[in-house]
Amino acid sequence: MGDAKDLLCVDAPLSLKRRLIVPKKLLCGPGPTNMHSRVRDALSLPLLGHMHKEFAEIMDELQAGTKYLFQTLNKMTFALAGTGHAGMECCLTNLVEPGDKVCIVKSGIWGERCGDMVTRLQGIPCFVESGKLGNGIGIESLEKVLLAESPRLLYVAQGESSTGVQEDIAMIASASSTHKCIVIVDTVASLGGVPFKMDEWNVGCVFTGSQKVLGAPPGTALVSFGADAVQKYERRRTPVTSYLFDLANNAKYWNIEGFGPRGYHYTGAISSFYALREAIGVVCEEGLIETQRRHQDAATYLYAKLKEMGLELLVSDPKFRLPTVTTVKCPSHVNPLTVTNYLMDNFLLEVSGGLGPSKGLVWRIGLMGPNANRDTVDCIVDHLKCALKATGSSHL
Ligand SMILES: Cc1ncc(COP(=O)(O)O)c(C=O)c1O
Repeated sequence: MGDAKDLLCVDAPLSLKRRLIVPKKLLCGPGPTNMHSRVRDALSLPLLGHMHKEFAEIMDELQAGTKYLFQTLNKMTFALAGTGHAGMECCLTNLVEPGDKVCIVKSGIWGERCGDMVTRLQGIPCFVESGKLGNGIGIESLEKVLLAESPRLLYVAQGESSTGVQEDIAMIASASSTHKCIVIVDTVASLGGVPFKMDEWNVGCVFTGSQKVLGAPPGTALVSFGADAVQKYERRRTPVTSYLFDLANNAKYWNIEGFGPRGYHYTGAISSFYALREAIGVVCEEGLIETQRRHQDAATYLYAKLKEMGLELLVSDPKFRLPTVTTVKCPSHVNPLTVTNYLMDNFLLEVSGGLGPSKGLVWRIGLMGPNANRDTVDCIVDHLKCALKATGSSHL
């Protein structure tokens, strides 16, 4: 018996005395996706210190791999501890100053979230929309807003995971640079699954997350800032409000020319960075072009199978379809959640319902990372047929 002074008022939860067990699921929603075995193995490697020379080498490799993924030679390229949102906050926090006008391409929920972040940073959001759910924007509507508003920055999600729309980044970046507007591209749901060429397309700033095509666990993000974006940061009239995301602080930790030598900023997310390094390594092994082709092939195969079932895609124009996340129209007599719940309860298969403007209207099927292949599509389609029949939702 301990002394009365040793008594605790909150007991250790019994459940935590047992080891953690989680079911193995096939993750075919809009993310996270399943991990490659090389990534999973990396998570159990021994910890290193965040300033150890071996970890510095891993950071250098991560940086080189990120430049490959983004197709950029930008020095200001690094990883962050934090999910895709951290990538978004890092780009916006460093670039938006109070009073800056930011044009936001809105084809789903991510444009809305960006608007919220811009407002919190005391920027002024203005939106450009396609006008039809499931369409990307065209040059005319973009030009109109660029001319009328003269924004300093433009945000666009290359892949809108809430609607399954893919925007034409080459067109958007080209139009924006004519108006001296720096383009920030959100590639969280698209990078590795579709072509992306930061330098060739003149993209000013980009970010992505670890948990989609890369197939690493959620919790890390990648960013890159081009020369114009870095110059905008350096000419700020006001300090960046986030210490953690501040560009110079991160650039020092990543030993970026002009900001080094490497020094402590925060304790790097050691094991998560191992996993991210391995996830990028998997893409390097396969090749970026081949990875993109595999994603397109799996998606095209899925479109054909869904058509055979009499199901329609939300994105009717093939040029706006995002191969990594497919939005399938849910027939009007069907409750989408009954079907997704059945898939989860009976097959441990995740297919998601809609989000934001697509809520209640679609199923979202993600084919990313190791799940982007025809065998996985066959499995999803077989289970979907079963679920439609069993829940009385079949319209065939
Ligand atoms: C296009 C896009 N941007 C940003 C995010 C946010 O990423 P996270 O949930 O990892 O913070 C997501 C997540 O689904 C996304 O699809």
